[in-house]
Amino acid sequence: MPMPIPEPRGPVSAALVAVFAGADEPATVNTAALGCRSDPPDDVLTDDDVQLALTLLYELHLHGIDGVDDRLEWAPELIAARAELEAPFEAAVRELVRPRVEKADSSDVVAALWEMTAPTAGPGLSGFMATEATEAQFRELLIHRSLNQLREADVHTLGIPRLAGRPKAALVEVQADEYGGGRLDRMHSTLFATTMRELGLSDAYAHYLDDVPAVTLASLNVLSLFGLHRRLRAALAGHLCAVETTSALPSKKYAAGLRRLGFGAAATLFFDEHVEADSVHEQIVVRDLAGGLVEQRPDCAGDVLLGAAACLAFDDLVGERVADSWARGASSLRARGS
Ligand SMILES: [Fe+2]
Ligand SMILES: [Fe+2]
Repeated sequence: MPMPIPEPRGPVSAALVAVFAGADEPATVNTAALGCRSDPPDDVLTDDDVQLALTLLYELHLHGIDGVDDRLEWAPELIAARAELEAPFEAAVRELVRPRVEKADSSDVVAALWEMTAPTAGPGLSGFMATEATEAQFRELLIHRSLNQLREADVHTLGIPRLAGRPKAALVEVQADEYGGGRLDRMHSTLFATTMRELGLSDAYAHYLDDVPAVTLASLNVLSLFGLHRRLRAALAGHLCAVETTSALPSKKYAAGLRRLGFGAAATLFFDEHVEADSVHEQIVVRDLAGGLVEQRPDCAGDVLLGAAACLAFDDLVGERVADSWARGASSLRARGS
């Protein structure tokens, strides 16, 4: 199912939506994106217009946009506009995670991945979800995660044709599980859709696009940046390592929180499944995918750690947005039209 056309959030996304509607030429998007260079946003990572435009431009390569000609995927003006937005975005991501990333050999990278993804002492957001969160707060969290989880695994799978040998085999093994071993009812995206319905939410792909703030879009865009550029395939591998190694324990807490609120197995299965699966996946991706990749190509150690650190940093940023909003008694979602 393609992504619906959202409300624009500024000049670049407005130009893009006009092109999608057939009301303008793709070159207008490039002109708008060039405007970002002469008048850059204060913080590209939380700029609604840039992040929405990147999400839409990336989506042309993924599930497509509802009612939009698929040939726009390779319209040179849109590729140029994307590059114009990606340059400051990638620079900001590298700046965000810079202190965590160092060059290393294979065993150092494996050790660093375990260290940087080790559980923290505090209860964190998942602890709050287990013991205190309301049903409405669970719905909010699912909405933040829905854009990615309803297409779970798709972007990491783009790494498969870009790898060879042991890392490739490792990624195939993990991704096969993500897709339920070929069983639709076991696909993790299917399980997530069930959880959304059980909580009274729509499970239509990107249904909540207008509701998620820029930082949530940025967390998706960083994955697409890594997934759609061959030169960043090691960062894509590192990103998956961070996803897998920080999933099992929080998933257990989310499932506990849903049970506390009276939800049954259909609602918790997505999380229950990840407690089991990701305890295995984390071993495979850290040792064989990331470790194997650095063994083949020692020069990609920095990018593996960049990918992992970026994933963790965006998890923190989204988590802070949620926690800060809730502490003020406010919603962490975006007010429509803002
Ligand atoms: Fe999964
Ligand atoms: Fe997994």
